[in-house]
Amino acid sequence: MKVLVIGKGGREHALVWKLRQSPRVTRVFCAPGNAGTEIDGENVAIDANDFDRLIRFAKKEEIGLTVVGPEEPLVKGIVDAFEKENLRIFGPSRQAAQLEGSKVFAKQLMRNADVPTAEFRVFDHPAAARHYIETRDYPLVVKADGLAAGKGVLVCSTQEEALAAVDRIMVREEFGAQAGRQIVVEKRLFGYELSILALVSGRTILTLPPTQDHKPAFDNDEGPNTGGMGAYCPAPMPSPELIEEIERDILIPTVHAMKRARMPFRGVLYAGLMITNQGPRVLEFNCRFGDPEAQPLLMRLKTDLLDLLDAVVDNRLETQVESGVEWDSRPSVCVVMASGGYPGPYSKGEVISGLDDVAELPDVKVFHAGTIRKNNLILTDGGRVLGVTALGDNLAQARRKAYDAVERIRFSGAFWRRDIGLKAILSPPSSPPN
Ligand code: AMP
Ligand code: GLY
Repeated sequence: MKVLVIGKGGREHALVWKLRQSPRVTRVFCAPGNAGTEIDGENVAIDANDFDRLIRFAKKEEIGLTVVGPEEPLVKGIVDAFEKENLRIFGPSRQAAQLEGSKVFAKQLMRNADVPTAEFRVFDHPAAARHYIETRDYPLVVKADGLAAGKGVLVCSTQEEALAAVDRIMVREEFGAQAGRQIVVEKRLFGYELSILALVSGRTILTLPPTQDHKPAFDNDEGPNTGGMGAYCPAPMPSPELIEEIERDILIPTVHAMKRARMPFRGVLYAGLMITNQGPRVLEFNCRFGDPEAQPLLMRLKTDLLDLLDAVVDNRLETQVESGVEWDSRPSVCVVMASGGYPGPYSKGEVISGLDDVAELPDVKVFHAGTIRKNNLILTDGGRVLGVTALGDNLAQARRKAYDAVERIRFSGAFWRRDIGLKAILSPPSSPPN
């Protein structure tokens, strides 16, 4: 089978790399891809949101399965567009992708399905939102309804900050007019964060091993939030009971509610959770693999990824649940190397060296994100440049291998966090803080 992966980040490189290992796969294309997907697959110069050209390409090449990485094409309806042309594609429909594409939709679905989440109100006028904020005596989070490249969530400590957040989203429209037309104002929760990803098809849910992202740019969770500066898998869990609770109280009722609403979810359901003293609460849903979470996750996957994705697309995921999914018992760590200045402005076109050297290291894989090949050089082409990922006998060893590899790679202005996975080694969570 020929497969097509849509997107150009580290997640997409990991998908290409893993799909390439399937004995059933003959060719893997990536649109538009990066320098890494060009090494492990074949790049196609079509933008991820250019559905017409992607469909023409899929027909011409007789692509057997298209796998969508990023949220934007999903929210814009790429799955519906492909299916209308009888093309097989992995991901939720436009309606189902609203779980990520609209915070208002997601919160209302959770309220109706009794899924635990922060108390909230929805506003479409700033005046009413301001009045609400002035009458709350607890910290709040203000969220733009629509997609805002992960930036439309403002976590506030004071009333002044929350009022300013309303202004930024609704009045100054910093995240776009459409994304800020409605806002969610919700209670700020405290605890620790955890991402749980599951493959979902109809009513069947296959929960994947927990992964832990590191969103702030700098060590000790300092600095501005990024798309994710590194991740490790499996994240140590306080107890298997917690996973059970998350499945019973969050994943199952959400998936059933989507089915009842006649928008059955198919694809990856990613629940961003806060584990509080009162139990797990949903902060957000995403409708795709996390980036960088996919990198350490797929590094550990032993089952054929194509088999798993096929089972979702063909609505027979329960057969995979029965036969089980095989994971490498060793943990994995992914350290993101970023361009100086990210998540703010940064330069592009810096020469990356050391990649050949690192390619020889056992149990290490460098997933490319913002990279491009020019002549025989690999240059930086984005904020997050590489996801250096390693397997180790334990988390400490996986960390050591990943950081050894990082030290051998150079580009001007490169920076990375030095503490990916470190907290789990120094103080494994035994019970939720606070
Ligand atoms: P979201 O895109 O909704 O996940 O928000 C991005 C980040 O904002 C989350 O990963 C949390 O760190 C934070 N966040 C969102 N909602 C809340 C909340 N109700 N309380 C505390 N932090 C939150
Ligand atoms: N790493 C966070 C995300 O993929 O949304």
